[in-house]
Amino acid sequence: MRMAKKRDTWGSRLGVIMAVAGSAVGLGNFLRFPAKAASNGGGAFMIPYFVSLFLLGIPLIWIEWTLGRYGGGFEHGTAPGIFHSIWQKNRFIKYFGTIGIFGPLVIFIYYAYIESWTLAYSFFALMGKYTNIHEQAVMRSFLSGFQGLEHNQFFSGLGWAYLFFVVTFVLNIGVIYYGIKAGIERLCKIAMPLLFIFGLMLVLRVITLGTPDITRPTWSVINGFGFLWNPDFSALKSAKVWLEASGQIFFTLSVGIGVILTYASYLSKGDDVVLSGLTAASCNELAEIILGGSIIIPAAFVFFGPQDIQSIARSGVFNLGFVTMPLILNKLPLAQILGFIWFFLLFLAGLTSSVSLAQPAVAFLEDEFDIDRRKAVLIFGVVSFFLCQGAIFGLGKGIVDELDFWGGTFFLVIFATIETILFAWVFGIQQAWDEIHRGAQMRVPKVYKFIIKYITPLFLFFILGMWFVQEWLPIILMRNVSSDLRIYILSTRIGLLVIFLVLVVLVKIAWRRKRMKLDNLR
Ligand code: ALA
Repeated sequence: MRMAKKRDTWGSRLGVIMAVAGSAVGLGNFLRFPAKAASNGGGAFMIPYFVSLFLLGIPLIWIEWTLGRYGGGFEHGTAPGIFHSIWQKNRFIKYFGTIGIFGPLVIFIYYAYIESWTLAYSFFALMGKYTNIHEQAVMRSFLSGFQGLEHNQFFSGLGWAYLFFVVTFVLNIGVIYYGIKAGIERLCKIAMPLLFIFGLMLVLRVITLGTPDITRPTWSVINGFGFLWNPDFSALKSAKVWLEASGQIFFTLSVGIGVILTYASYLSKGDDVVLSGLTAASCNELAEIILGGSIIIPAAFVFFGPQDIQSIARSGVFNLGFVTMPLILNKLPLAQILGFIWFFLLFLAGLTSSVSLAQPAVAFLEDEFDIDRRKAVLIFGVVSFFLCQGAIFGLGKGIVDELDFWGGTFFLVIFATIETILFAWVFGIQQAWDEIHRGAQMRVPKVYKFIIKYITPLFLFFILGMWFVQEWLPIILMRNVSSDLRIYILSTRIGLLVIFLVLVVLVKIAWRRKRMKLDNLR
């Protein structure tokens, strides 16, 4: 029998909604979404995006909230224990749950580092360190110097980046050290409203840009919105567009990662999940489509015009966030303040997401090894600090992209497929449906019973199938990697495999300990 150790709980319903919304609203909303939408057919991208939202995102939100709450009832806050509670007869299912700790840990390794750039740039903006730069090449070299990729007049090494990384890392660890209610919930209740206020301020600034250069009447904010939203329906025929839209839904809603399972495990048995889950998802969509879609691309259109906007949209999220946006803001009055608002908005979005990525590993140590929270946080801190060094020093070697592919793309789809099958087919759709509605304050439309059972799994298999057909071989064989970087990519893959195997072994040890405890009690 387990010792009745009191698990942490949320302080209020608003708190848990803010925390899940905080996990969802992140760098993905303000950088990844506009870049993906603008480069994949503009308004037409929103068709696969919404199809994925309704057939994958929303069902997975309900599945994960329900599974998490269910597992929490057995004092399990991570996927190995939650999957085991669902399918107790299967002794292997808990190992599949390892992905739900591995995925968030891998994302955390690079996410925390990128998040620290946003804190550094907030500081640089206030100090006016980059606000007199007006050329793209110079702003780019400011970023490269900061990242330690080149020595130049701005930076002579990684010193600043490392300093801000340490500050960001300590902040993350500090928040989870205080626990669910006093740490994560308190942070999100302050950070989320602030984030929305900052976002609205920037949107207002962008929509009042009008047509700043009267010699170029077409370079207007209205045409900027037109560029983002005018549909190019030919994009719908491309499988890549569908894959990117569904990938964006996973990333932005934080589903398929394992973090919602953990957050929901701190709910009580009778807490509503239907309305709370939907509310958190709606907050995310508001931040993504309304705020995320109204800042960077329309503003870039106004200042760079219809010719350059295509290449800007395709230039990648780092370039958009840390080169294009500062250049735009530097053209406006109060550039230092606006720069601070932009980067601090990104920092708040990043911080509320990264703490959620850290929590599954901590919860695993607490729940399955009975380790006290503070000790678990310290163990996590030491291990993840060490792992983050790979992202910091390997940025120029393609390591961050590699981590993002496995942790932030591939395993999300695999994990979502496993949990959907478990929920709808092993647990059984009728029992699942009853469990979703326990304590629910609204009914899920009945059509979702059919969607969760058939459409969501089929959609997931389709994505996996497309991925295997289109990308499997080139990725495995590293065909798109230059020969001098292959050694780094290979080492990253080996490193990831080792992390995964260590987690599998830990799951095995945890269950063996439980069995021994039970035997001793008999
Ligand atoms: N959902 C988080 C984001 O969008 C991870 O950045």
